[in-house]
Amino acid sequence: MSSWEIVNADCFDVLPETIERVSNPVIVTDPPFNIGYHYNEYRDKLPESEYWAMLGRIANMGAPSVFVHYPEGINRLSIEIGRAPVRVLAWVYPSNTARQHRDIAFYGVKPDFRRVRQPYRNQNDKRVRELQKRTGGGRLYDWIECNQVKNVSKEKTVHPCQMPLELMQKVVGILPDGITVIDPFAGSGTTTLACALAGIPSVGIEVNELYAQVAYERIEATTGVGVEYVEKSAMAHADEVVRCRAVAGTEKGEG
Ligand SMILES: C[S@@+](CC[C@H](N)C(=O)[O-])C[C@H]1O[C@@H](n2cnc3c(N)ncnc32)[C@H](O)[C@@H]1O
Repeated sequence: MSSWEIVNADCFDVLPETIERVSNPVIVTDPPFNIGYHYNEYRDKLPESEYWAMLGRIANMGAPSVFVHYPEGINRLSIEIGRAPVRVLAWVYPSNTARQHRDIAFYGVKPDFRRVRQPYRNQNDKRVRELQKRTGGGRLYDWIECNQVKNVSKEKTVHPCQMPLELMQKVVGILPDGITVIDPFAGSGTTTLACALAGIPSVGIEVNELYAQVAYERIEATTGVGVEYVEKSAMAHADEVVRCRAVAGTEKGEG
């Protein structure tokens, strides 16, 4: 059975064990960018070398990985880990800011852009309309245009730096079948929510308790699927794990 978990913990405490216990793990993450963002708990201003070593540890944890970062960040990470991504996809977000795109780099896992369909261009052309009808649309391009989540966005939570759900749905949608997606920097749980909507098992790990709870409630409220919430204290003593389970059709706290 597909399953979705939000774990409230430091990812470095639980990631090796999580990679070990799930089937075909693939890390998909939008990490902190080390630009002084105001998160609860995590300080987003590490010394440069420490920051890249931190992301390098995630990428070298033994699972294929997909990272969202600025283009320079993806290049820097590739140097840190000594290998290049197999594919890179651009996320373009038209705005009034100087920066309007980030890259999504696939390390050790090849995305299949045919798995996500989108409307063909030039729908005024009858032949294109017929093609659209027959095929359900063209394959995803190597760039995705999607607005950033703003304070006024419908999907906005209390998390200060949320990924658009539509974007993460496309990213997880082009990954192979049979994987389990792990997001070690889960924030408000957008990656795990996108997975839940697509029926892909996923574990989101978030160090801050408030964000972890927001993620848990958000996924449950949006999808109605059973989400498991694993408390921070539980992970330090695996045999005493206290799990609050909300499986569709059962009461909270059961299981
Ligand atoms: C860029 S945000 C992720 C936002 C997420 N993609 C979303 O859509 O909400 C990065 C998150 O990583 C969390 N974080 C930082 N260090 C962590 C660690 N060692 N373990 C787990 N989470 C961590 C921060 O608290 C923050 O919520």
